[in-house]
Amino acid sequence: MVATSSGRRFTVRQRIDFLVFRMAHRDESTKPILEGKGATDYERYLRTDELLALQKPAEELLHKDEMTFLVVHQSSELLMKGAEFELGRALEVLERADYGNATRLIRRAISLLEPPIGLLHILETISPYDYHLIRAGLGHGSGLDSPGFLSLLHLGPRLGKAFYEQLERAGLTAEELYRRHEEFFGLHDVAERLLDFDECMQLFRFHHLKLAERIIGGRVVGTMGTPVEVLEQRMESWLYKDLWDVRNQITAAIGQTPAGKPY
Ligand code: HEM
Repeated sequence: MVATSSGRRFTVRQRIDFLVFRMAHRDESTKPILEGKGATDYERYLRTDELLALQKPAEELLHKDEMTFLVVHQSSELLMKGAEFELGRALEVLERADYGNATRLIRRAISLLEPPIGLLHILETISPYDYHLIRAGLGHGSGLDSPGFLSLLHLGPRLGKAFYEQLERAGLTAEELYRRHEEFFGLHDVAERLLDFDECMQLFRFHHLKLAERIIGGRVVGTMGTPVEVLEQRMESWLYKDLWDVRNQITAAIGQTPAGKPY
């Protein structure tokens, strides 16, 4: 049974019959009113015609798994674009010291970045031999040129700069911000969300490295000639190293006080 918004209950069969009837008898109230291609406003608004034409037709695929390979990459680029957009908005509000909105938008950006990590696992289902058939068609195409990931790497430090400017305005060091976190809740929350973002980027890199090791191996070179080991080294580049280091300072400081309590 399916409950409608009015609370009436229909069987699934009745609901399907209703939708089929509605499709067949489109009246003025359901006819598309937006400009563009597509039979419905849904298709016109989302431009599904163009979006769904962005993948190779089935007969041109080098291997059937290439469809999944394409869809995963394109979806990841879209989600990263969405994340970069929200982080750009977060940057603007952070510069105006609007910490509540900054954290809201960074949180949303992170929610957009989590699915690409999950999508990597889908590609782990491609067998190495089959992947080499797909790889033969990639030319010099490499994730190093991913517009989505590069835009995030570009925006990350700018967000960090805006955060440190606010910290300076408050007359605090990062360590003091953490010690007095209840007093400076808003800015402390921004720091924690930035850390979430940094962790998310590292998680992407970690799972991507494992994917590359599984599919092409850990001691080979990629399509751009970059050894896979380089991916491991890149995991060491943190966006907000100072914010991670604060934890070391706090732990060290607590260890020095007799009761194990800070100050
Ligand atoms: C079968 C799947 C994949 C394999 C075997 C693979 C392999 C590689 C390799 C070997 C590199 C090093 C650079 C080079 O190409 O020479 C690389 C970099 C990269 N790839 Fe992939 N990749 C895969 C899927 C993906 C997916 C789905 C994404 C999502 C957008 C992605 C994003 C990236 C990024 C962002 C980099 C640069 C990493 C960094 O800066 O740390 N890759 N990939």
